[in-house]
Amino acid sequence: MYNNILETAAFLKERLHARPEAAIILGSGLGSLVGEMTVSAEIPYTAIPHFPLSTVEGHSGKLIVGRLGGKDILALQGRFHYYEGYSMSEVTFPVRVFRELGIRRLFVSNAAGGTHPDFAIGDLMIITDHINLFPEHPLRGRNIGYGPRFPDMSEAYSKDLIARALAIAAARGIPVRQGVYLGTQGPTYETPAEYRMFRRLGADAVGMSTVPEVIVANHCGMQVFGISVITDLGVEGKIVEVSHAEVQKAADEAQPRMTLLLRELIATL
Ligand code: HPA
Repeated sequence: MYNNILETAAFLKERLHARPEAAIILGSGLGSLVGEMTVSAEIPYTAIPHFPLSTVEGHSGKLIVGRLGGKDILALQGRFHYYEGYSMSEVTFPVRVFRELGIRRLFVSNAAGGTHPDFAIGDLMIITDHINLFPEHPLRGRNIGYGPRFPDMSEAYSKDLIARALAIAAARGIPVRQGVYLGTQGPTYETPAEYRMFRRLGADAVGMSTVPEVIVANHCGMQVFGISVITDLGVEGKIVEVSHAEVQKAADEAQPRMTLLLRELIATL
């Protein structure tokens, strides 16, 4: 796998004009940030050696090279989910390629179900920490030398980036929540009993992504910033049927706020 990472990084290096300062992984229906970028290249995953292919609706599967907030960045429009059948090394492959490109900051977004009783649909939640409930650990197996065998996870989400984001949100009047994201494999949304269990375990939001990439980014020594759009509620008394279409609709509505926050945050790098 290490050779594949190097080959993919070499392929991309030839197509970059500058060393990107950050990479962004855009979650389900959260690709519109690309509209704010000055795009210099769009590379479909199909054209990138060793890249897995994205299959889920709302993910168009492109690597975008360009500028946002005055910084050179890469954006993944469409991520690889474990529930699609990818191995954990495929799900996290782009993160290691980013590291190989010299990128030390990763921004991740996702759609998530809120389990905090005060949350409302459309809320933005800055991820302060996570709980990994995926059935397989992304670092299982021989340790790849980007980091130690037993990586520290005491600050999986950068306190510095969180503080900057909170300051921007306050200055720009963007309401934000903060909370713990629990990652689970999906593809089912939760039963009411599962939402209740996750709440008791300490989750403020639950989703089917992010945690594997964030673990690998930490292993690679990257600073991480994560943000969830609350697209549905797993809160007792507020649980209704959830559909992918409704999740997309809520994500759409929240995108401009999320994009503004991420753009301003990246501008501070
Ligand atoms: N559960 C899991 N994943 C999700 C949810 C949810 O309620 N909403 C969006 N992604």
